[in-house]
Amino acid sequence: MNYIDAADAPEIRDGAIKIHGPAGFEGMRKAGLLAARCLDMLAPMVEPGVTTAELDRAALDFILDHGAVPACLGYRGYQHTVCTSVNHVVCHGIPNDKPLKDGDVVNIDVTAIVDGWHGDTSRMYPVGTPNRRAERLTQITYDALMLGIAAVKPGATTGDIGYAIQKFAEAERCSIVTDFCGHGLGKLFHDSPNILHYGRPGEGEVLREGMFFTIEPMINLGRPEVKILSDGWTAVTRDRKLTAQFEHSLGVTATGSEIFTTSPAGLHRPPYL
Ligand code: MF3
Ligand code: CO
Ligand code: CO
Repeated sequence: MNYIDAADAPEIRDGAIKIHGPAGFEGMRKAGLLAARCLDMLAPMVEPGVTTAELDRAALDFILDHGAVPACLGYRGYQHTVCTSVNHVVCHGIPNDKPLKDGDVVNIDVTAIVDGWHGDTSRMYPVGTPNRRAERLTQITYDALMLGIAAVKPGATTGDIGYAIQKFAEAERCSIVTDFCGHGLGKLFHDSPNILHYGRPGEGEVLREGMFFTIEPMINLGRPEVKILSDGWTAVTRDRKLTAQFEHSLGVTATGSEIFTTSPAGLHRPPYL
């Protein structure tokens, strides 16, 4: 375990977990709010016939119009503002010109940089008539994220977060994707610590007030294995069964956590009425 005051921290990933003060919380509130507002703005656009490239363009315009920068654009060669992961795509789906169909379900993941701070969040969006199995998995995944968040407080561990998510999802006969994890963030997009979405109580890193990270469980109806398509990004379930994900960015407070990416419009999870 290795902690460093964020004010003294280098802007590189050196393994130390940064501890932020009030200025960091203020920065993350702004970045998280803009990312959440971007997802709110997209909600009414997600209809049969819209393309994920159109959603990507709307997200880019929204972020730039608000004086912010999309973190994904140019990140490790990624060419888009959002990831759009449809049906059996676990994460990092690339926006394209194929229209969404009635009964599809898509995760949209956006990260906005405001004054150097990163707000990273994703939600599931049903397309047209909700598909019953997708609806159930979407609800389980949202509940799993919120149970993970409820485990966050000073003195708890990253293993406590993973355990809360895993225990719940597996009791629902779903599986947890282990190839991707949540991450520290702040002035960096992906920083220490890794937040695994499975684990045992008391294991991992001890949480301290001022740590910032995401929790972003990916939960499958079938088996947990994923593979990456030849584009180098798109992660799909090997059994091609449905998968879902939600993501929040949060900070550890004296008594628990502060979610930076809460939807100001109340569009936390579908149905988005
Ligand atoms: N937003 C994703 C995350 O939750 C990262 C996407 S990286 C990209 O960490 F390059 F694919 F956009
Ligand atoms: Co993330
Ligand atoms: Co994300």
